[in-house]
Amino acid sequence: MKFLITGGLGFMGSNMIRYVLNTYQDCSILNLDKMTYAANPKNLKDVSNNSRYRFMKGDVADEDLIEKVFGEFDPDIVLNYAAESHVDRSIMDPKAFLVTAALGTYTLLEATRAYKTPRFIQISTDEVFGSIEQGSFTETSCFEPNSPYSAAKAGGDLLCRAYIKTYNLPIIVTHSCNFIGPYQYPEKVIPLFITNLLEGKKVPLYGDGKNVREWIYTEDHCRAIDALMQKGVVGEVYNIGTGQEIQNIDLTKKILTLLGKGEEMIEPVKDRPAHDRRYSIDSSKLRALGWKSEYSLDQALEKTIKWYQTHEDWWKPLKSGEYLEYYNTQYQRQ
Ligand code: DAU
Repeated sequence: MKFLITGGLGFMGSNMIRYVLNTYQDCSILNLDKMTYAANPKNLKDVSNNSRYRFMKGDVADEDLIEKVFGEFDPDIVLNYAAESHVDRSIMDPKAFLVTAALGTYTLLEATRAYKTPRFIQISTDEVFGSIEQGSFTETSCFEPNSPYSAAKAGGDLLCRAYIKTYNLPIIVTHSCNFIGPYQYPEKVIPLFITNLLEGKKVPLYGDGKNVREWIYTEDHCRAIDALMQKGVVGEVYNIGTGQEIQNIDLTKKILTLLGKGEEMIEPVKDRPAHDRRYSIDSSKLRALGWKSEYSLDQALEKTIKWYQTHEDWWKPLKSGEYLEYYNTQYQRQ
C-alpha cells in the first residue's frame, strides 16, 4: 500500500508516519512537506533510513510538482496533513494559511481526480464549526469559522465536499479536537507552557482562561485515522474527539502541578481576537466503527511532559531566532 502523506515533517504528520511504518509492514510512504518553520526533520530522524520511507520537499499547492508526484508515485491513499496550523500566526499573516489549506487541498484533489487515487483522507479541525456554548457539534453542523486559520481549513473541507458531490471522489473528511503529544511545536499552548516552565519563564494565559478545549493524545488520533482507513465510509465526514474537555485555566494548573510550580507563574495576557470560547464535538459516528480513545487527559499530559523534559535538545533550539521574534510580537500586543 502506497501512502502519500503531506505535511509529514510537522507534529501530527510525523506521528502518523511513524504509526503507519509500525503498523503496515508492506507500506511505502512518500512524505511531501514544504518545510516551513514548523516542519522539523528531527521529528523523523529515527525512520529516515527506513527503506519504506521517502521524503520530498515540496508545496502541495504547486500543480506541476503534484502532477509529477501522482504520476510517478501513484499513491493508493493520500493523508492530507499539510496546513499552517497556528491560529495566532493566522491572525498576524493569513495568506500562507489560505495557500496551503485551500489551494493546496484543491491541487491534491485535482490530482486525485486525474489519477483515480482510491482514497483521500482530509485531516481537519473542529475549529471550522466555530464556538459552541452548550452541547457538541455533529458532522452536519454548520461551518462558522472565526479565524483566518479556521476559514482557510473550512475552504479546503468544502472543496472536499464539492469533489465528493460533483466528481464522486473517494474522500473522507475528518474534524479533530486539540492534539496533545510529543513533537508539537512550542507555540501551541501545551508545549509552550511546558517548555516555558522548564526554562523558568511564566506562562501567558489568554483572557480569563475560561475557554474550553477538547483534547486527544496523538496516538489515539493516529488510531482513529487508521480506523477510518479500514472502516470509514467514503464520502462521509467524521468527528475525532474524546469528550475530554477542560478550561485553559484548569489545564494550566494541571501542568503547573505536574512540574511542581505555583500559580504565580501564570501571566494573564490580553485575549486572542475572536477567541472561540468552547470547542466540543460529538464523535459517536467514529466510535460506532469500534474506535475509542485510550489515553485520559491526565495520562496524555504526564507522557507529554515527560517527553519535553527528556527532549530538551529537540525544543530548545526551536525557541530562538524567528521564534523569539514571533513570541515577543505576540505578547507585546497589549
Ligand atoms: O481544535 C483543533 C485546533 O487546535 C487545531 O485545528 C489547531 O491547528 C491548533 O492550533 C489548535 O487551536 P487552538 O487555538 O485551540 O490551540 P492553541 O494551542 O493555540 O490554544 C489552545 C487554547 O489556549 C486556546 O483557547 C488559546 C489558549 N492559549 C494559547 C496560547 C498559545 C493561551 O491561553 N495562551 C497561549 O500562549
